[in-house]
Parts: sequence; structure tokens; C-alpha cells
Amino acid sequence: MKTMRKQFLPFALPKISEKTIEDVANVLRSGWITQGPKVKEFESSFKEFVNEKEAIALNSATAGLHLCLETIGLTSNDAVITSSVTFTASVEVICYFGAEPILTDVDPVKNLMTIETLLQCIETNCKFVNQKLIHIPSNKTVKAIIPVHLAGHTCDMEKIIEFAKKYNLFIIEDAAHAFPAKHKNKMIGAWGDFTVFSFYATKGITTGEGGMVTTKHKDHADRIRLMRLHGVNRDSYNRPSWYYEVVEAGFKYNLTDIAAAIGINQLNEACAFWERRTEIALKYNQEFKNLNGIKLPILDEQGIHSWHLYRIEIDPEIAGFGRDTLADELKEFNIGCSLHFIPIFEHPFYKKNYNFNRNDFPNANKMYEKCLSLPLFAGMNDDDVLDVVNAVKSIFQKYIK
Ligand SMILES: Cc1ncc(COP(=O)(O)O)c(C=O)c1O
Repeated sequence: MKTMRKQFLPFALPKISEKTIEDVANVLRSGWITQGPKVKEFESSFKEFVNEKEAIALNSATAGLHLCLETIGLTSNDAVITSSVTFTASVEVICYFGAEPILTDVDPVKNLMTIETLLQCIETNCKFVNQKLIHIPSNKTVKAIIPVHLAGHTCDMEKIIEFAKKYNLFIIEDAAHAFPAKHKNKMIGAWGDFTVFSFYATKGITTGEGGMVTTKHKDHADRIRLMRLHGVNRDSYNRPSWYYEVVEAGFKYNLTDIAAAIGINQLNEACAFWERRTEIALKYNQEFKNLNGIKLPILDEQGIHSWHLYRIEIDPEIAGFGRDTLADELKEFNIGCSLHFIPIFEHPFYKKNYNFNRNDFPNANKMYEKCLSLPLFAGMNDDDVLDVVNAVKSIFQKYIK
């Protein structure tokens, strides 16, 4: 029997405490609402949390990815390797420089860039000459890799670091989905040259819009700090007098103290949020394990999954219905869902401007036919979880052969 929820259940919602609202109000009353002491406090707590030397707060992860590529000196003669299964942000930042984006396929289980997909990608596209990895079609030098910790599964950083060392590449991890997460015993945020986090509204912790770069390189951290605020050599909070100098043509990517006040509170609640998301994900896994034609997310055997997303795959041959039908049927129950992600090479912009061959990405194509993300967020109560469980089960029941 179909029971429709009265209120729509989206696939993600932020959880904001009353204390957060109070703290934001206090910042608003304080008279200092742009980048100031709260941003400093947020950066300092964040770097302690992930155990990395430097943390720079920004107004988005996209800004963070952009500034990481800027500080390594990316030019239009360079190329960057990233995953074909990601949000456009991981790729568009490469295009900002007129550099060449190179895409890897993903593994069939977690849909991540792996050492195997990396090797396959460079064997097809690159040659190693004079200690430089050259992308053959564009004749550009590969300068960096952007691994994407999709959904909160972590890429095998040890192997990717070994690969990067061999080919003299920087690693800029896209950890928009990976807070808090661990690979082996080390937090994501303390592995590569740079790690970029997102605090967009649907993420593990949020500031409305926001991002953070962590890095072990002091010189790069200083450059990112400079470039986030117009290339001005002193931010206005720390300026002892009216005098300042513009030393670069920078950007306007700084975070506000209003957002940082949200971020500080969210960071304090990050473990509790993660525990609740984990509980829900494990409950889904338990409830759905006997359904035929569903592939469930697996636990990370070598670390800690952030459970940012709960992505499943539907095999229409076995289930008797496909992903699109599941999305439509969930709507009938007043339940939302999402798709992470339409592969990059399927988007008109990338089709028009780059010569990606979809046959090079068999696993990304398979994922795209079958994948769907079900609601998962810390603020879901037990009734919300049960509504999703019952809806999914009854849809499977309806189409059973
Ligand atoms: C994998 C991935 N990378 C980067 C971003 C960009 O994050 P932001 O919106 O903070 O710029 C997103 C946002 O959804 C994302 O999913």
C-alpha cells in the first residue's frame, strides 16, 4: 500500500542548531561581518580536525580548486587529469586556464579514480619524455591530478601519491564529499599537496556556501591567502593603518565571518552528523540487502566513509525497472533523489570543446545508466528513514516478476 508523505523529503537538507543561529546573530550584531576573527577561528579548528599544517577558508570549493591550480602556476600549455565521474567544478577550473582536462574512467564499485584507471588513461593518452608526462593529442604537459573522493569513498591516496611522484605531478584532492573521512589512519585533508572541501548547503558540514583548502606547503598557503582577497598584501581585519598594496591581480574568494560562525558550529557537530548518516546508511544496507537487482554501497575497507551520499545502482534486467522509473516512483511517495553524476563527457560544453571518446569510459557509462542517490542527511528522523525504506521496498514489490 502506497503511503505518500505529507511533506516532501529532499535528498539532502542542512541541520542548523539554535546555537548556530545565535552565534550568527552575534556576528551580525558585532559590526564585523566580513572576513575576520571567526574565519581565523574556523581555519584553525579545521586544520586541527584534519591534522594538516595550513587551512585557508574560501567562499566555495570551486574557488579552492581554482586557487590551488593558480598557485602551482598552471598555464594554457599544461594539462590536468581528473575523474570523469564528478561535478563540473573539478573540471571547469582546469578550463579557466585554457589548460587541457584529461579524464580517467572509474572503478566499477565505488566509481573512483584508481591507480588502474590512471595508468589506463595515461597509456591511452600520454607519453613520458624528459621527466614530463605529455598529453599526446594536445602536446601539453600534465602538471597535476585532481582525484575526487566521490560520495565520501576515499581514493587510494598511497598509490596515487606514488604515481604522482613518478610523473612529477601535484595532487589536488577534491574532497567536496569527504568530510569527515579517513583513508587508512589519516584524515582526508592531510594526504595530498592540497585538499579542497566544500561547505555547500547539502554537504557533510555547511556554511551555506563555502570551502576550505588544506595544505602542507606554507608558500602555497600564503599565495592562496593573497589571491583570495584581490592580491592585497593585508586583509582589512589585520591592517594596522590605511595603507595596503595590491601585489597581484587576485580574486574575491574570501569567506565571511557570518559563514564562519556557522562553520565553527557545524565543525563541532561534524562527528555527531557523521554518526547519524552512518547509522542511516547501514540501516538502508540492512533493509535493502535482499532486494533483487539493487547494488548497494560498500563500506570502505581501508578507511572511513564520510557517507555524504547513499548511491545505489538498479539493474533493470533483474529488478524489472530502471533508475528513471525508481526516481519517478519515489516522487509519487513525495521523496526526492539525485544523481551523482552525469559523466563529464556527456555535457554539451565538454562535448563541444574537447574530444572525449565515450568508449574510453565503460564504467562511467554503466554507472550513469543505473545510479541514483537516496535521501541521506543528519537531520533525517527515524520516520523519514522508514518512509524511504518502505517506498523503495514497495517499488521493488510492484515490479517483481
Ligand atoms: C565533487 C564536487 N566537487 C566540487 C564541488 C564544488 O563545490 P562548491 O559548490 O563549494 O564550489 C562540488 C559541489 O557540489 C562537488 O560535488
